[in-house]
Amino acid sequence: MGRIAVLDSGGQYCHLIARKIREMGFFAEILPIGTDPARLRGYSGLILSGGPCSVFDPQSPQPEPGLFELGRPVLGICYGHQLIASHLGGTVNRGTSNEFGSALLRIRRAAGLFKGLDADQQVWMSHGDHVARMPPGFGVLASTRECEVAAMGDRQRQLFGVQFHPEVVHTPNGSQMLQNFLVGACGSEPDWHPGDRIEGLLGGIRDQVGQRRVLLFLSGGVDSTVAYALLVRALGQDSVEAVYVDTGFMREGETAQIRSAFRSLGLGSLRVVRAADLFLGRLSGTADPEAKRAIIGQAFVDVQAGILADRKYCTQDWLLGQGTIYPDTIESGGTTAADVIKTHHNRVPRIQQMLAEGRVVEPLTEFYKDEVRAVGRALGLPSQLVDRHPFPGPGLAIRCLCSESSAVPVRDARIDAAAQRNGYSAVLLPLRSVGVQGDSRSYTGLTVVYGGRFDFGTLLPLSTAITNEHRQTNRVVALVAPNGADPSRWKIVPAGLDAPRVRLLQRADLIVRRYLRDEGLYGEVWQCPVVLLPWGRDGGETVGLRPVVSVDGMTASVAELPLPGLRELADRLTRIGGIDGVVYDVSHKPPSTIEWE
Ligand code: XMP
Repeated sequence: MGRIAVLDSGGQYCHLIARKIREMGFFAEILPIGTDPARLRGYSGLILSGGPCSVFDPQSPQPEPGLFELGRPVLGICYGHQLIASHLGGTVNRGTSNEFGSALLRIRRAAGLFKGLDADQQVWMSHGDHVARMPPGFGVLASTRECEVAAMGDRQRQLFGVQFHPEVVHTPNGSQMLQNFLVGACGSEPDWHPGDRIEGLLGGIRDQVGQRRVLLFLSGGVDSTVAYALLVRALGQDSVEAVYVDTGFMREGETAQIRSAFRSLGLGSLRVVRAADLFLGRLSGTADPEAKRAIIGQAFVDVQAGILADRKYCTQDWLLGQGTIYPDTIESGGTTAADVIKTHHNRVPRIQQMLAEGRVVEPLTEFYKDEVRAVGRALGLPSQLVDRHPFPGPGLAIRCLCSESSAVPVRDARIDAAAQRNGYSAVLLPLRSVGVQGDSRSYTGLTVVYGGRFDFGTLLPLSTAITNEHRQTNRVVALVAPNGADPSRWKIVPAGLDAPRVRLLQRADLIVRRYLRDEGLYGEVWQCPVVLLPWGRDGGETVGLRPVVSVDGMTASVAELPLPGLRELADRLTRIGGIDGVVYDVSHKPPSTIEWE
């Protein structure tokens, strides 16, 4: 199988490149731009991603010497295009202006990268610097009005660069250009289908595990269920023990549901460990999201150690099984240029150490979420399990926001003015949530928009404008209920992670899940976190709805739930004792992540 390495210089687009290539049926992996070229010999082609830096920055990510002498075809995109120019003897000039958005590309010859394409192509540009002089051996392949060297190539050495982004939807024929590179230059065949990889995965599991056994934590979510099914198929039922830890942060009815699904599907028996006291006890008093995640990850490891000790099993005979998927591995150091947005519960320090010792088996680390589903289907798992909405390992603990002190909303004149121009009012709430802005983690306050008509057509662009221009906020919510209320006087009250609050969130979450099922909306929404905010009118709390549409969770857009039903849902939620209001998250990812913490 031909493999393509996407060399990452930082930036969200890197994932888009890898995904797009995989969707086209070729296997792509993301590696840091500074990867030792010797490691890249096994790849049939290299793509240098874009990134947020300028080649002039002293800290800008750079390839190791020898990359361009490997003899592998290379395609540089945006910053990658400029890297090729600056490393091979061309000149990059600092831009005096930026070129953002759609541009018309004029192709010189419909061959090579542009084989089969018309002379005029719409492309997406996002750059300031540009290639002013090409390296020796290169020729111009295409230009835009603003950018003479919009595409360049050295056919002899099979080195190509494009200033625009072929991986985004705004370059309608971008897939064709990438395919031309993969097939024409790299000689690759489209032979990647996640479902076809099962035999290889099974062999890999057997090689790694050998005579040992695996203790796997199952959450009932897609990833761990598919990982479990693979492990059982590879090693046999007796060598795999599935443990479902009831952390106390599961959804209402989840434990019983998962247990019965396992029984009825003949997936083997599930051992349920009740550990709510342990998790709740350790988390009480912790408000910071990363601290919560660290505690949760460590608690899982301690539960595993406890189970092995109880049974007097020798630690060396057992591996820890996890359903870790590709984005988790990338976020935890798979690329050098990327910022850590969230530490996934399966990547806390103790687990990193066990990984280094070879004591963890993770069969799904190559796959994106939708590919995991394809593997699950190929294994014959039913839609009831494979198509469930993702639910994170830390569960409701990262959906229950905490506050160490009392506070009131503040009015930021500029944000309020932006809202007023659109017929709303806005306040800034000092309740922070996690986002990803400019490719870095952000942890900033919440903008609440209220008044005016609840209309996605106005709210979504307003949300984008606010988070683009005001760095003190990374998330915008709109008030749904009570209709017509003025939440500017509502108060944030001190609140921690405790059983009554989790119970309140479970009740709200159940109502939302039932509503999605009953209205036939479950399949249209990719995931719908429900969050609890310690902010309300009379010392009560507010429920936040976060329905999103996504392919793999790496990027997401707001799912627009139909309005009359949404109002009824919100009214139902405010009838729960202790719930004063309902807000709807109108922020895409980026700038906001899907989970609030
Ligand atoms: P974010 O919030 O980063 O989430 O936009 C992207 C997807 O990842 C899930 N997620 C997690 N899953 N352990 C998990 O098993 C975690 O620690 C974790 N954090 C986020 C999230 O639910 C969404 O589907």
